[in-house]
Amino acid sequence: MEEKDLTKLKQAGKASAEALAHAKSIIKPGKSILEAAEEIERFITSKGFKLSFPVNLSINEQAAHFTPEVDDKSVFSDKDLIKVDLGARHESLLTDSAITIDLSGNNSKLVEASEEALSNAISIVKAGRQLRDIGKEIEGVAAKHGLKPIHNLGGHGISEADLHADIFIPNFDNGDNTELEEGQIVAIEPFMTDGKGHVDESSFTAIFQKTSECMVRSQEARTVSAFIDEHFASYPFTARWLSRELKDMGDFKIRRGLAEILNAGALEPFPGLIEKGRGMVAQAEHTLIVQKDGCEIITK
Ligand code: CO
Repeated sequence: MEEKDLTKLKQAGKASAEALAHAKSIIKPGKSILEAAEEIERFITSKGFKLSFPVNLSINEQAAHFTPEVDDKSVFSDKDLIKVDLGARHESLLTDSAITIDLSGNNSKLVEASEEALSNAISIVKAGRQLRDIGKEIEGVAAKHGLKPIHNLGGHGISEADLHADIFIPNFDNGDNTELEEGQIVAIEPFMTDGKGHVDESSFTAIFQKTSECMVRSQEARTVSAFIDEHFASYPFTARWLSRELKDMGDFKIRRGLAEILNAGALEPFPGLIEKGRGMVAQAEHTLIVQKDGCEIITK
């Protein structure tokens, strides 16, 4: 990566870290989930960045890919365990990071285990390190605390314009002896649970990504499709952003248009992911750049 791009990426990483700190300051019992999402996203755009993806606010047994819809009336409760997963983007340079907020204070073991797993995993990152070793480290921390990592979620490579590129970094020893490479940008994201250690797809989907051009017939689908192409290109977006920008169209037509594009096969949906045993889930994540003898954390 060129020096000027690396500088921009680090600025985006810093904005992500500040956005997570901001999230921590505003997420309290009684706070509207919709307002929290919008405030966190506005925080990132106010720093001059776009979003790598809609802010994920996944609660309790929800592990990932939950973001409020435009008509969400719910508020955080004093029992909620909230994963805030977000990223600031500069053009095609993406960051990805997450923290867990424990409003009850009863889930500190899960939160601390996810943080310890992340920091232990980061401490062994270097060029030549095998992916399975990172997983083994995370799995070891989980076992020490009597918890399970989530086996079908994990970290990933990040390349230009692609948030989930090249490699999958397991949260357990999956036998993958692929080696990390110097200069590679990766996200490591241990998830810890007191449930079964797997996630299933739920019926809730609020995040999508345009994957191809499509031929759609109705006026509403064509308007929505053109708007996505112009404003979100092939980056993930949520219907909530369409509601905000396409006010004159109204939510009913927006949803119908979106459904038509989805049926045409031009959208990848990201369904909400829920822990299989309905266990509580905590997550910690950083984006980092692999170096010869270690790594540098981008999202700090
Ligand atoms: Co990630």
